[in-house]
Amino acid sequence: MPFRLFRLSLRFVLPLALVLGLFAYAVVPLVDNLTLHWFIRDLDARSQSLANALQDPLLEYVPQKSEKKISQLFERALRDERLYAIGFCDPGGKLLYKTVTYPPSLGCHMGQEKGGKTPSLVSFPQGSLHVSESLLEGDGQYLGKLILVHDMSFIEKRSADTKKYIIVLFAMMAVVISLITVVVAHLSWRNWISSVKSILRGEIGPRPQQRSTPPEVRPLEGDLRVLLRQLNIERRTRDDVTHLWTPEKLRMLLHEELAGDEILVVSNREPYLHMRTRKGIEVQRPASGLVTAVEPVMRACSGTWIAHGSGSADRESVDRNDRVPVPPGNPSYTLRRVWLSKEEEQGYYYGFANEGLWPLCHIAHVRPVFRSSDWEQYVAVNQRFADAVVKEAHTDDPVVLVQDYHFALLPRMVREVLPKATIITFWHIPWPNPESFGICPWREEILEGLLGSTILGFHTPFHCKNFLETVDRYLETRIEYEASTISYGGKLTQVEPYPISIAWPEPNIVQPSVAECRSSIREEHGMPLDHLLAVGVDRLDYTKGIVERFQAVERMLELHPYLVGKFTMIQIAAPTRSSLDEYQNFEARVRMLVQRINSRFSSGNYQPIILKAEHHDSGQVNRYYRAADVCMVTSLHDGMNLVAKEFIAARDDERGVLVLSQFTGAARELHEALVVNPYHIEQSADALYRAVTMPEIEQRERMRSMRALVKDFNIYRWAGRMLLDAARLRQRERITTKIRSHSRKSLRRVV
Ligand code: G6P
Repeated sequence: MPFRLFRLSLRFVLPLALVLGLFAYAVVPLVDNLTLHWFIRDLDARSQSLANALQDPLLEYVPQKSEKKISQLFERALRDERLYAIGFCDPGGKLLYKTVTYPPSLGCHMGQEKGGKTPSLVSFPQGSLHVSESLLEGDGQYLGKLILVHDMSFIEKRSADTKKYIIVLFAMMAVVISLITVVVAHLSWRNWISSVKSILRGEIGPRPQQRSTPPEVRPLEGDLRVLLRQLNIERRTRDDVTHLWTPEKLRMLLHEELAGDEILVVSNREPYLHMRTRKGIEVQRPASGLVTAVEPVMRACSGTWIAHGSGSADRESVDRNDRVPVPPGNPSYTLRRVWLSKEEEQGYYYGFANEGLWPLCHIAHVRPVFRSSDWEQYVAVNQRFADAVVKEAHTDDPVVLVQDYHFALLPRMVREVLPKATIITFWHIPWPNPESFGICPWREEILEGLLGSTILGFHTPFHCKNFLETVDRYLETRIEYEASTISYGGKLTQVEPYPISIAWPEPNIVQPSVAECRSSIREEHGMPLDHLLAVGVDRLDYTKGIVERFQAVERMLELHPYLVGKFTMIQIAAPTRSSLDEYQNFEARVRMLVQRINSRFSSGNYQPIILKAEHHDSGQVNRYYRAADVCMVTSLHDGMNLVAKEFIAARDDERGVLVLSQFTGAARELHEALVVNPYHIEQSADALYRAVTMPEIEQRERMRSMRALVKDFNIYRWAGRMLLDAARLRQRERITTKIRSHSRKSLRRVV
């Protein structure tokens, strides 16, 4: 290190010393001339005043020709050490009186120029002398001239000293400046390097050390981070693709990375409902993309799932702690039910969540309704669920997976009681832009609640961006866009896209063959075997584009009338949120439309649209997927839409065509689908026609490619990615806590 510093110093000192040396070389003569000039002026003035002083005695002594007095006068004057000699010449130019020191060669005519000007500097063997002449006149008569000679040697000595000082000064300046330069360069280089290193180590986010990033690194900082993120994403993608995510891999991850830490899931919708039927208590799986996705993860991870007990026989099926092991028959995790009163359910679930937040986040042109009474219930129910989380947690640092827009406030509520918990919140629906979100009267509270999360996940980078911008607009926080982090109240939230998916079917599951499904479904509906069939599987929700889908069917039949009687669309529509006006009106609209279209094209048994507005279990839905030629997903706005992925997973025969709305998260991944704008009825009709007439070979190619993608990017990957990120953050948090307590201890010791 000292050697490096020495080398560095040499590299700076030598050139700088050289430059300054040259500079001194040019400056010294200038300074020399200038000081000489000042000294001469000074001697001129001295000579003048001395001549004045000698004038009176000389006026007296010269006419008297008193040589003795004049000599004494000159000797006295000569006591001034700088005065070297004095002479007096008569008007004829004869040197009458002089001191012994007077240079003989000077005489009375020392090169007097025309015009009477006398050169003041004259060189003699003794050195340079300053000579001045003053005329002596008395009573208007010219008596002669007084010549005063000053010694210049002291000037030369001073000039030599000045030269020396200047050179020494410049040399010292060279050394000092170069040393300062070396030290500053060295320090900023070290600072620079350590900043870059900390960026590369991933010390991103608004931490104190980051705030001290030197300004010269700042422009680079953003680029480095973006690059790093890209590398990370690429590495992650590579890892994920080379290692197929399976339940086993997820289990291993939990064991290795999270040391078997406990996992708690919170969602409104429960994965299993116990329903009282005429045949007794039956277990149902709800129509919910959230449940479809999270349930296989819970099977793999075990832990506890906390949800609203909404089944008619739910209370009868739990133990005294409101817990029930699930899945029934093969339990692998615990379902903990939370009970809600009618008022609570009305205000929190129907009111604030589904009349407020749902239309707020989906661009489907349905106005959100916000009521203070609903908000109060929403706050209270979030608190009830947060209390349940705290109660179910056996440790002070569980991993809590919070699901969806029903629990925007819960992350902060849990964080307040369990500050060490890792809270991963996943928002299953789109996040709107700041303007749209801004109409929510409790927008700040919602954002603050969500920022209690350690990680906040959305389906797409676009939704993440919308969220960051919304927070930026309405809260005082510190946002790192490149790192996608928000610092609020001293806590950091990582905002990341985690595109959700489904569990890829086990290779050896027993299910009816595609041929069987094709024939049995057609048979059940009185259709011939070659009848063209499209399916739609949705909740009866206005965001799903069901009306637009039926209009596309109608348009296709208008454009290609030969398909009338040969094509049918079966729409499975699970009833949902039916007590809300908006949903009732929507259902009525759908039914009327079906009636109108069917009345136009039906004949005999034939109906172009069959609406099955009732609950279907996953086995039944799977039969439809396998029987269909086309699956239509035409959502007006959808976070992801798992129906699209389920259809692909169901088609192990590599046939079937997916028509997919461009406004779904799925359209960002499934490029081989026929992507449509559902508002453009003609376009959807064209796509539907293209789908029903697509050659098998093209179907196979498209389906094969989409299947490969969904198989790899499955739900275990979704959960695995989030849990890996959580593990990384937990690790970092633990290390930071250790360092903090260690430094506190050392500080105490010092004190
Ligand atoms: C969407 C939401 C889920 C919800 C599901 C069904 O997928 O993101 O949170 O469970 O709709 O809606 P429901 O109101 O019946 O639970």
